[in-house]
Amino acid sequence: MIEDRDYRQYHIDLSRNLVEDARAAVIPGAPERAELIASGLENPQKIASHRGLDSWLGRLEGYPVLVTNTGMGGPTTEIVVQELIQLGVTVFLRIGTTGAIRPEIPVGSLVISEAAIRLDGTSDHYAPPCYPAVADFELTEALKRRAKNAGASYISGITVSSATFYPGQERYDSASGYVQRSFRGSLEEWRALGALNYEMESGALFTMCRTMGLRAGCICAVVANRAQSEKVVRDVIRKAEEQAATIGLRALADILISG
Ligand code: URA
Repeated sequence: MIEDRDYRQYHIDLSRNLVEDARAAVIPGAPERAELIASGLENPQKIASHRGLDSWLGRLEGYPVLVTNTGMGGPTTEIVVQELIQLGVTVFLRIGTTGAIRPEIPVGSLVISEAAIRLDGTSDHYAPPCYPAVADFELTEALKRRAKNAGASYISGITVSSATFYPGQERYDSASGYVQRSFRGSLEEWRALGALNYEMESGALFTMCRTMGLRAGCICAVVANRAQSEKVVRDVIRKAEEQAATIGLRALADILISG
């Protein structure tokens, strides 16, 4: 932990004084989603904006809570999570978007990740490939409970966390249309092995947090159903993100209150 309370972390431009000893951070990918999530906190203030990484500070049941967007993928997630840990954050909640790989998971519903298949690359710098990327049990249970109470359409289970949006998620609608042999048929295989969805950050997040004894959870809005199409369905995004944000903040409050 950084001793100098005014020292600003290189990428996120936050100091311990600025974050007011917040223990919890919500980490969406997109800056617009950070603003949306922050609007669900009491008295949200934008406290930094640097390199496309926006940070907000507000209160949840009286506890200081940060919202910082990570950008897309493992490498920027690693940077943001590292620097927040150095400022004293111990609980992380990713609120993101995802592509479902099972036909029965509708666009607009939610996926709560219990663990991640580590195709992200970044987590290899923290632990060997046999190390499991597992979410915090209590935070995950709180997410499920709050999703159920809200009457949300949700599913929980194993997520494939990919380093790339295109070949790693076996998308053929890319610049070259080429998917290397090792990924051809991979979507079908992950589905056969019981995985639910693709996203790009939970592998790094869960591995980092587990190796350091910290807590992490992940809830995502489904914006594509890969059993039907490679396309993202844009008009469901806002509503599903709002629902994920409401459920996520309630679950985080449960964790903060229970200590
Ligand atoms: N994010 C992903 O990584 N994949 C999708 O299909 C949608 C969102």
